[in-house]
Amino acid sequence: MDLTRIKKKQYIKIMDLSLDFFKKRLEKLEDRFFGRVNKRIEPLQKFMSYYRCALMEIETKFKVLNEEFSFLHERNPIDSIKTRIKDFESIRKKLRKIQIPINTVSIESIEQNIHDIAGIRIICPFVDDVYMLADCLIGQDDLKLIERKDYIVKPKENGYRSLHLIVEIPIFLQNEKRPVKVEIQLRTIAMEFWANLEHRLRYKKNIDEKIMNELSNELSKCAEMSAMLDLKMKSIHERIENNNLN
Ligand code: GTP
Ligand code: MG
Repeated sequence: MDLTRIKKKQYIKIMDLSLDFFKKRLEKLEDRFFGRVNKRIEPLQKFMSYYRCALMEIETKFKVLNEEFSFLHERNPIDSIKTRIKDFESIRKKLRKIQIPINTVSIESIEQNIHDIAGIRIICPFVDDVYMLADCLIGQDDLKLIERKDYIVKPKENGYRSLHLIVEIPIFLQNEKRPVKVEIQLRTIAMEFWANLEHRLRYKKNIDEKIMNELSNELSKCAEMSAMLDLKMKSIHERIENNNLN
């Protein structure tokens, strides 16, 4: 009998057993760790899902209005709809911006202080559509208007135009009714075109200050041109519609 071969075999067996032992131990630790992480994350995921539900509710309300209007007037007051949920990094930045100390942050404080976790943007052909849709929505009796900012009547200094609403809408869950806040931005196609380009410039890094100022000035002029375009399109649209009646 070759003694070294027996020893080698025993050694391999012991090694296999120990590896197996450590693997199982590691798996247990892993389970415990992820179990704890899940327990902590679960309420946050549930909280975020409320906002997804609220967005579905609001989006449906706008789609219903669009459907009815297109039936009555043979055109759509909504060109497109975009929705988004704020990610955790943006929530963190916003908490810092509104100076909520990080050690006091809780789901409740986020809910109370950040009103744009759920965001929906309604893009319309004409300015009149923006106001018609906003009025129809605000008039619905399950909805509470929290804030209204009209940057169309009073554009921001840089030329930004849009109608912003913060509303609270109930969502109906298995055992509860929960009010959830949603930010709604309503704007025309021309306003959207402008805001998208301005947004790109705002977040562009490494642009020379002089060029940045030049581009901002040009964008500001474009905002005026875009407002004129909206007015002109509205008047042409009205003439087409009135002509239809004659
Ligand atoms: P935020 O902290 O950005 O939410 O600002 P706020 O709470 O004062 O609200 P406001 O109604 O002014 O803006 C809300 C949102 O509108 C922003 O997050 C942008 O999506 C959009 N917005 C506001 N101002 C501008 C602007 O100057 N340019 C562009 N492109 N978008 C803007
Ligand atoms: Mg915001």
